[in-house]
Amino acid sequence: MKKKLTFLGIETSCDETAASVVQENSNGTAKVLSNVVSSQIREHKKFGGVVPEIAARAHVENVDFIIKEALKKSKKKIKDLDGIAATAGPGLVVCLHVGYNIGKSISEFGEKKFFPINHLEGHALSPSIENKISFPYLLLLVSGGHSQYLIVKGLNNYKRIGTTIDDAVGEAFDKTARILNLGYPGGPNVEKFSKLGNKNSYDLPQPIINRAGCNLSLAGLKTDVLRKSKNIKSDQDRYNLAASFQDTINKILRKKTEVAMKMFLDEVTNKHDNSFVVAGGVAANETIRKSLKEICEKRNFKAVFPSKEFCGDNGAMIAWAGIQRYKKKLFSKKDEIVRSRWPLDKYAPFLKGPGLKI
Ligand code: KG4
Ligand code: ZN
Repeated sequence: MKKKLTFLGIETSCDETAASVVQENSNGTAKVLSNVVSSQIREHKKFGGVVPEIAARAHVENVDFIIKEALKKSKKKIKDLDGIAATAGPGLVVCLHVGYNIGKSISEFGEKKFFPINHLEGHALSPSIENKISFPYLLLLVSGGHSQYLIVKGLNNYKRIGTTIDDAVGEAFDKTARILNLGYPGGPNVEKFSKLGNKNSYDLPQPIINRAGCNLSLAGLKTDVLRKSKNIKSDQDRYNLAASFQDTINKILRKKTEVAMKMFLDEVTNKHDNSFVVAGGVAANETIRKSLKEICEKRNFKAVFPSKEFCGDNGAMIAWAGIQRYKKKLFSKKDEIVRSRWPLDKYAPFLKGPGLKI
């Protein structure tokens, strides 16, 4: 019987210290033997956002314990592993160094192959941990730092067809939570308090909604939330504004997803079982899931969402990306380093900043 690859994955790109042991299944999916995540919510709560130096220190304090826990829960030892994968970017460089260095050290001492992983590739491949999906598929990657539509043509082969030109969707949720004083972390709290509000109370802008293509722009929406927040008189007004914000994001994503689906079908002509995959922290949002599932039914796409434990940052998606790279013999160069910016589609133009023409 062919040996099943087993990897340790380490993730420290932002405010989650995470480690996981993952074993491949014979049908193209994976068995997650352990998935340990230590969130730094308590450390960053009083600042209303992630403070890089505090995050890095918390990673240093926790990472060895989290790795030991992941190994213990999986009942594996370092000698049982085929490789070690660690996030090498994009993210906060001071944080990336922590997981990358410890992963590299373990691999040197354990004489295992080391895989520096692109965090976005981890998110992009995360749905195939639990689902059999064939390439190519359409991916909406929505996290705190990124919001992109990508055609995932294969491992290491990504075409970006849309991106945000200013704020990421998760960032807009976080900023809205801060404006409305809903607490940290922003996304889950906006979702929670939206349930108490009326989504039809406020009419908010949908920037560049009628422009061709599937780029997103959310800065104007956030500014309007700020403006309208000045006239808030009660908690009910806050919940109404949160609900209206979330509903506006939903409308934008519904419209742009339909455009992205058309673009995908134009590019991928000979495929019958089209899948639409949503990954990243925002993919945990139930309203967005439900709404995008409806679009999939309308447009005849199979909707694929990772379980919530694989939506936010985790080590399993990093281990899984490592396993797939190992199988394709995509080994890294010796002098690979961590980096704050690392686009999945290296040919896609950088679309951010003032005065941008799109
Ligand atoms: O993928 P992730 O854990 O980290 C990054 O790579 O950025 O995504 C974190 C983002 C945060 O902005 C967070 O507020 C958002 O995902 N998020 C949500 C929800 N859960 C997390 N946004 C909306 N609704 C949620 N339920
Ligand atoms: Zn992430």
